[in-house]
Amino acid sequence: MALRNVVTKEDTILRKKCRDVEKFDEKLGILLDDMAETMYKANGVGLAAPQVGQSIQVVVIDIGEGLLELINPTIIRKEGTEIDTEGCLSVPEIYGEVERAAKVSVEYLNRRGKRHRITATGLLARCLQHEIDHLHGRLFIDIAN
Ligand code: CO
Repeated sequence: MALRNVVTKEDTILRKKCRDVEKFDEKLGILLDDMAETMYKANGVGLAAPQVGQSIQVVVIDIGEGLLELINPTIIRKEGTEIDTEGCLSVPEIYGEVERAAKVSVEYLNRRGKRHRITATGLLARCLQHEIDHLHGRLFIDIAN
């Protein structure tokens, strides 16, 4: 495994829509491993591939309940709203209050291309929405108060 360089908000890759993953190969596995290591090293709870310079639909999350790897994730259901503080490894030292859905269901593929679904509330729901936003070129500072 290796640490990847995390880009900051001036980098235009953070503003691009990421393309779908089509090949579930060793290269994808290495990227996922590196992203997890990079996230843990930075004490983050989530990291999206564009943050390490890869414009593809890949996210890792760990809010302290184990590592989640999400490929081509889509939010298929949203419920309620909740406001809480967010930060981002690509926007260092800036925090903002962001309104998100309180509960979300997300469909995604794992590293072997198998389809999964997760339903989450609280920090995990927030994290899923924040990271999926990254895959569509959106940063929390766009919607923070
Ligand atoms: Co972020």
